[in-house]
Amino acid sequence: MAFLIWPPVLEIGHEQIDREHCELVSLLNRAHAASVAGDQAEALDVLLALERYTEIHFAHEEALMDEIAYEFTAIHCSEHRQLFFDVKNMIDDSSFGTTDVAAVSQFMQRWLLRHIAGPDLLLGEALARVGPTSLLPTSAGSYPLSGSVQEGG
Ligand SMILES: [Fe+2]
Repeated sequence: MAFLIWPPVLEIGHEQIDREHCELVSLLNRAHAASVAGDQAEALDVLLALERYTEIHFAHEEALMDEIAYEFTAIHCSEHRQLFFDVKNMIDDSSFGTTDVAAVSQFMQRWLLRHIAGPDLLLGEALARVGPTSLLPTSAGSYPLSGSVQEGG
């Protein structure tokens, strides 16, 4: 059973970004399951998938910010860089032989939910004020949605 079902209250109102956030929550669910099972290899796989997926997802959000000349771009992007830095540190720590599975799950829960509920919702409000953007919802074939998150690419 999933640890967290995507709560609609966290939807920012941009279809593609919301879909990508759902994917991040599915990674969080994998991290939680790995924590419960004490599965270090799975926790490391989740971290690696998170690193790959957020790189693409953050690029999408940042492209939207550029497109609407978003006033809070700098602080929002600095949060993205911090997450990326923290994920890389956890991956580096894992290379020494152990992955703290509980820490991975707690880190993802704390970071993702706080970021989506804060800066991302603010971005959603700004996007709604501006209207349609060029970063339109795409078909599953053009973006690594469910299934391919775990496989990289
Ligand atoms: Fe963001």
